[in-house]
Amino acid sequence: MVEPSPLHVPVLDWYENNARDLPWRAADATPWGVLVSEIMLQQTPVVRVLPIWHEWMKRWPTPGDLAAEPPGEAVRHWGRLGYPRRALRLHACAKAITDEHGGEVPSDHATLLALPGIGEYTAAAVSSFAYGGRHAVLDTNVRRVFARAVRAEEYPPTATSAAERRLAEALLPEVGAARWGVAVMELGALVCTARAPRCADCPISQVCAWRLAGKPPHSGPARKGQTYAGTDRQCRGRLLAVLREAHGPVPKMALDVVWDDAVQRERALDGLVTDGLAELLDDGTYRLPHS
Ligand code: ADE
Repeated sequence: MVEPSPLHVPVLDWYENNARDLPWRAADATPWGVLVSEIMLQQTPVVRVLPIWHEWMKRWPTPGDLAAEPPGEAVRHWGRLGYPRRALRLHACAKAITDEHGGEVPSDHATLLALPGIGEYTAAAVSSFAYGGRHAVLDTNVRRVFARAVRAEEYPPTATSAAERRLAEALLPEVGAARWGVAVMELGALVCTARAPRCADCPISQVCAWRLAGKPPHSGPARKGQTYAGTDRQCRGRLLAVLREAHGPVPKMALDVVWDDAVQRERALDGLVTDGLAELLDDGTYRLPHS
């Protein structure tokens, strides 16, 4: 029997009054909608995900609808969410769900984990949020809340540790674990934010170990910022935008004009082909992947 934690009631009450009304949390959200949202949200903020998620749900309301299209269509409709290999992973996942699970998103954590493109976090999130399963859902927001509230540390370690997992599992309530998971996530997203936590508005500030310790600053190595301008990632984004907007193969020249540095451009283009995000045809033209 797990001891109730003094964190449970205040966090759940706070969530009741402060949760954002997000469509993948609505009563009519399907498991497929939850799965798509979790992949999109992993590296992209909610406001940018919302329009693309709605577009995907309208275009591909079930995994079978997406699986029936070439993978390039997933990449095309990924828009500017970034990290577009996620679109390929969702496509591969939709195919496996269609071929191996009769088109139904599995509910069981281990079965989800065996799907292509689904890692520990996504398996736990889908099993919890779509099916009410009892799993520790450790995204970066949740990890930061626990690091502060329980371990008195400003930030969690770079990679999820066994100690963090044990702590999160120990804190899972017997009943209502899924709601607890999303409530902690929301607290991390809205109040216990990375750079400017709003402790005055926090329902657990009275018991927060980090606040009680005087909010000691992070002592480890500097956390990496997200630079973008001038990076290979930006270059890949420009090249991919050309392929997305063209409804057919494009000549190399159409790609050459969007990035001046030829060495970086060739490296980025090779990377797109290697990653399966672009295809080089025999006539030297490029397109989004067809198979
Ligand atoms: N609700 C459920 N999962 C979420 C996530 N990853 N980000 C924001 N809201 C969510």
